[in-house]
Amino acid sequence: MATRQGSRATLDKDPRDVASMFDGVAKRYDLTNTVLSFGQDRGWRRATRTALGLNPGERVLDLAAGTGVSTVELSRSGAWCVATDFSLGMLSAGAERNVPKVAGDAMHLPFADGVFDAATISFGLRNVSDFDAGLREIARVTKPGGRLVVCEFSTPVFAPFRTVYMEYLMKALPRVAETVSSNPDAYVYLAESIRAWPDQAELAERIAAAGWHGVQWRNLTGGIVALHRATR
Ligand SMILES: C[S@@+](CC[C@H](N)C(=O)[O-])C[C@H]1O[C@@H](n2cnc3c(N)ncnc32)[C@H](O)[C@@H]1O
Repeated sequence: MATRQGSRATLDKDPRDVASMFDGVAKRYDLTNTVLSFGQDRGWRRATRTALGLNPGERVLDLAAGTGVSTVELSRSGAWCVATDFSLGMLSAGAERNVPKVAGDAMHLPFADGVFDAATISFGLRNVSDFDAGLREIARVTKPGGRLVVCEFSTPVFAPFRTVYMEYLMKALPRVAETVSSNPDAYVYLAESIRAWPDQAELAERIAAAGWHGVQWRNLTGGIVALHRATR
């Protein structure tokens, strides 16, 4: 399905629609994120860096890096972190960020086998049209023994909190986005895609099935976000 720039993807996640939608939100992406998450996004990024246990000089893939905001946080470790994304709009919105950037699709990464010590994808895996294939492709470019951290929206564990959160997602979030985002429709997709996403246990199974070992997860902000860790 063809879409104009600035429109939204649907849950079939056609890669052209997804890339076009992110091109449309790129200009105000960082600000919108911080507003909609009540500033929690910074803590989630720090937790992702810590979970990866990075060492200076290691090579790290930050996949679906968007504007590179996640890559800058990872680089604080002293590791050499590459931002990869297929939205040229998102990569160029982060042009001022001093991190290496490579345009590429998660399902066909432009890297040789086993070149990364660690790989991570934050708020990106949910948007990959065949995310099982994406997880296998990340495994291909990661060294044996290398680490993976997936940082993604998940399912709040406390039922009353889950109910309130789902109301926020489906009703309030798209309205707030109208005042902040350069493409508010994209935030309707955001809410729908979070609701349709596997919970913590199911995602752990899918990561293991894609060739990763020792999968574990940790909830952040009551399970609004989960960090899944695994080893290649
Ligand atoms: C919500 S943003 C996350 C950006 C950044 N990681 C962060 O934490 O803010 C999701 C990104 O995933 C990218 N993306 C989605 N599917 C992709 C794919 N198949 N290959 C590469 N990038 C993809 C989008 O272009 C978008 O920039």
